[in-house]
Parts: sequence; C-alpha cells; structure tokens
Amino acid sequence: MPNPSAKKISVSLNINGEMRQVEIRPIDTLLYVLRHHLSLTGAKPGCLNGDCGACSVMVNDNVYKSCIMLAIESVGSAITTVEGLKDSPIQNAFVKHFAFQCGYCTPGFIMNCQALLLKHPHPTYEVVKEWLSSNICRCTCYQEIEEAIFSVVEGRVGGTSE
Ligand code: FES
Ligand code: FES
Repeated sequence: MPNPSAKKISVSLNINGEMRQVEIRPIDTLLYVLRHHLSLTGAKPGCLNGDCGACSVMVNDNVYKSCIMLAIESVGSAITTVEGLKDSPIQNAFVKHFAFQCGYCTPGFIMNCQALLLKHPHPTYEVVKEWLSSNICRCTCYQEIEEAIFSVVEGRVGGTSE
C-alpha cells in the first residue's frame, strides 16, 4: 500500500499517445497512478505481486505488470493501456471469439496478446502457449483466447487502430 506521507513530485507520462501531467509519490506503482490519478481503470488489480497479469500494460511495446513497476520508472517511455487499443484487431478478436467470461482478466490478456503480436506477427502455437502462461484466467478456458490471436494473425479480424 503506498505510503500517504511520501513527498509528491510532478511528472509527465506519455500514455496512449497523450502527455499527462500528474503528481505522484516516488513509491507509487504504475497501476496505482493509472487507476487513481488518471482514471484509466482498464488495468486491474489482481494478485498485486506479479503473478496474474490482470494489471498488464505495454511500455515501449514490451508488456509489463504495472503492479510491480513504479510509475516513475515509466517517465520518458511510451505507455499503452487497454484504453489505447480501442477498436484494435486484437480487441475486436476477443469480442468476436467470446474470449472472456467475467472479463476481469481480459484487459491484461489483450495487452499481453498485443505485445505478443508485435514481437511475433506469425507465432507458432507453442509460442502462443508460452506467452499466455504469464496471465491467469479463473473462469474461461484459454482456447477462445488462442483462437482470437490466430484470427488476427490470419487477417480474419481487423480494426481501425493498431
Ligand atoms: S495484479 Fe499485477 S500481476 Fe496480478
Ligand atoms: S474471464 Fe473471468 S477471470 Fe478471466
């Protein structure tokens, strides 16, 4: 839990292509700042210790668990949250393939899949399996998520954003 008495500093964060000025404490996690200072609630608090992936975001096109990253570490980098993937192929593919049930884990999975597709535009099934192992879903099977990924790879689902 962030220490409420820690001294605040003003920083500029590049989030979803927009510069956002925000007062943070050096000990604030990126997840905390996104949700509590910037009203970007797509990244979800789950385990808060780096295991479940519900809080995943991209920083310079690499996927990070924002619950274990300090916000101050992301200054000068390009941060992408699920809000920045609106109408992207991968988001549309999740909808088309019903790759969720309660949806709590879904933003984290979408971010992880987006990072996967940036690194591996034509991944093998083994690579997809390995990437998905960093995120935990408690209520759906991973088959629909895999189908969503391959529908983007094969160009069966598109979108208006990246
Ligand atoms: S909440 Fe960050 S990995 Fe679980
Ligand atoms: S859809 Fe419910 S936890 Fe994944």
